[in-house]
Order: sequence, then C-alpha cells, then structure tokens
Amino acid sequence: MRQPLVAGNWKMNGSTASVRELLAGVNAGLAGVAKCEVAVCPPYLYIPQVQAELSGTAAAWGGQNLSNQLSGAFTGEIAASMLLDFGCTYVIVGHSERRTLYGEDDALVAAKFAVARAAGLKPILCVGETLSEREQGVTEAVIARQLDAVIAVEGVAALAAGVIAYEPVWAIGTGKTATPEQAQEVHAFIRGRIAALDVGVAEGLRILYGGSMKPDNAVQLMAKPDIDGGLIGGAALVAKDFLGICQAAHASL
Ligand code: 13P
Repeated sequence: MRQPLVAGNWKMNGSTASVRELLAGVNAGLAGVAKCEVAVCPPYLYIPQVQAELSGTAAAWGGQNLSNQLSGAFTGEIAASMLLDFGCTYVIVGHSERRTLYGEDDALVAAKFAVARAAGLKPILCVGETLSEREQGVTEAVIARQLDAVIAVEGVAALAAGVIAYEPVWAIGTGKTATPEQAQEVHAFIRGRIAALDVGVAEGLRILYGGSMKPDNAVQLMAKPDIDGGLIGGAALVAKDFLGICQAAHASL
C-alpha cells in the first residue's frame, strides 16, 4: 500500500506574516490526517521560517526548484546542498511553469532530478501535456518523452527515490480539473510504462495529481487506484482547503 502524499506548491506567494498564519493552521490539523504524508514547498526565502515552524511536526518541506550545478559561479541559483542544509526532504523538478516560462527542457529537468537524487533529496518530477497537445491526441507521447528523458539519464530504478506528479497544464490554476477518469487514465499509463521496465519500482511509486485540486474534487480523485496524492497550488495557500485535501487522502487508505 502506497502512503499518499499531499504537497503544497506555494509558487511565488507569501510573506513572513502569511507563512506564519498558514503554518499555524496546517499544524493544528496535522494530527487528524496522520495517514497522509504532508509537505509544503515555499519560495526559497521562507524555507528557514518553515523549518523553524515545522520542525518536530509530522510535516516535511521542500524547494520548488534547484540548480543542476553543485556550487560556484551560478548567480541566482540554489544548490541541492543548500536545500538539505535547511532540512528539505523534497524538491519539485520540471514544473510546467519552469518548463514553459523559464525554458527548462527535458535534458535540464533530467539533470536536476539527478542532482537532487544524488544529494539525498526526493525529487517530485512533474509531467503533463498542454491543452493543444491533449487536443492533438499526443498526451501519452508527451508524457512518455518527459519520463524517458529522466530514465535515460538515471535508469528506471532511480525513480524509486522520488515521486511523480501528473499535472495537465490546462488544469493548472484554471479551475478546470481533470476528471477522475481522465487523471486515472494518465496515471495508469505512467505506471504501466514504468512497469514495463521494472514492476517493483512501478508498484511502489507514488504518482500525484496536480491541477485545480480542491477539497471537494479530491475525494473522487484520491479514490482512483493510481492516484496517490496531490501537488496543490492555489488551495495550498488556505489552511482549511489544504487540510481538506489531506483529509481526502487520509480517508482514501
Ligand atoms: P493549482 O492547484 O493552483 O491548479 O496548481 C497546481 C500546481 O501547479 C501545483 O504544482
């Protein structure tokens, strides 16, 4: 049985005051969702604050991105070792906003996955198709390409060190969630593709859904056999909503 993971991707949102308030709310509800692993990924600057406020709780934290380099003259970048230094467990790699707005290609995402894993961080590898790719019927081809880029560099066994997040780009921040059936179909495709290489890795791998997940659609999504949690954007900024999604995951076991 795979333990569900619900991770909040706060994106570029927050202030010291709002982080304090949000974490107080999340902390108050953690005991009620104990079967779900909970994590938050704040902007880099708030990671020390999150570490201070979540240390000793059941929740984990992580980065939203990292450098493919280890250290040195890379202005504006953050290294895996720095995330570890501040207690991070996870790091998101290949989010569609990084791929589309900041030009991260499959090779760079694979390199980031490799650096994160080598450092002992758990990469959350994001994959997903755009609306036009879905309409052209190439969803599976796009996701296969994104997955295969990491497998080519790292080998399939390396996937066991991380988590995959299926995030259809057309569902991110749009209020348009994939139906549970649409999401399950892609999750099953991802697991099947990995199973063709290594059944054990495929069976143990957590595949999260991300894209307009809210407490009221989370229950049906989490009920699907290949959906093992969520990567949450907007709803992760409101403690009650985030905990509502964690509750759905907790109850899905
Ligand atoms: P929303 O939940 O705001 O759609 O964002 C999803 C996402 O991109 C999480 O990484």
